[in-house]
Amino acid sequence: MAIINLHINGKEEAIDIDPSTPLLYALRNNLSLNGPKFGCGIERCGSCMVLMDGVAMPSCVRPCDSFEKMKITTLEGLGDPTKLHPVQEAFIEEQAAQCGYCLNGMIMSASALLEKNPEPDEHEIKIALQRVLCRCGTHARMIRAVKRASKKIKRL
Ligand code: FES
Ligand code: FES
Repeated sequence: MAIINLHINGKEEAIDIDPSTPLLYALRNNLSLNGPKFGCGIERCGSCMVLMDGVAMPSCVRPCDSFEKMKITTLEGLGDPTKLHPVQEAFIEEQAAQCGYCLNGMIMSASALLEKNPEPDEHEIKIALQRVLCRCGTHARMIRAVKRASKKIKRL
């Protein structure tokens, strides 16, 4: 065990943990940040996505000590029930979820895309979401939600 210092959702967090523990376990078990989900555990499904210095990346494999110098944002850091992020609002308005398990990955990927490219075309949206698997097949609604979020961001 060792003390690992992580910068998460704008706060410094010191956690006592085996440094080889994947970041996802540190987030969920040590910090109760349960937005990122465990799916495959091999960086293939995208349900564990977080933003690492603004880039959407899976958190289920890389050890937590490799993130000490990075800014990490989880779903909880995007918005909260009193002030949702435009992507979260748009996903609700488009009813873009069925079971909801993939939503963390979809929303984190979409928010990273819109941060870099506020007016993506449909092809760019599909590319940005392609690392996240959705077994429920609500992709059409999700694409609509990202387009809606893009319009909201433009109005801000
Ligand atoms: S749980 Fe991390 S990509 Fe599937
Ligand atoms: S909404 Fe069920 S996996 Fe995507």
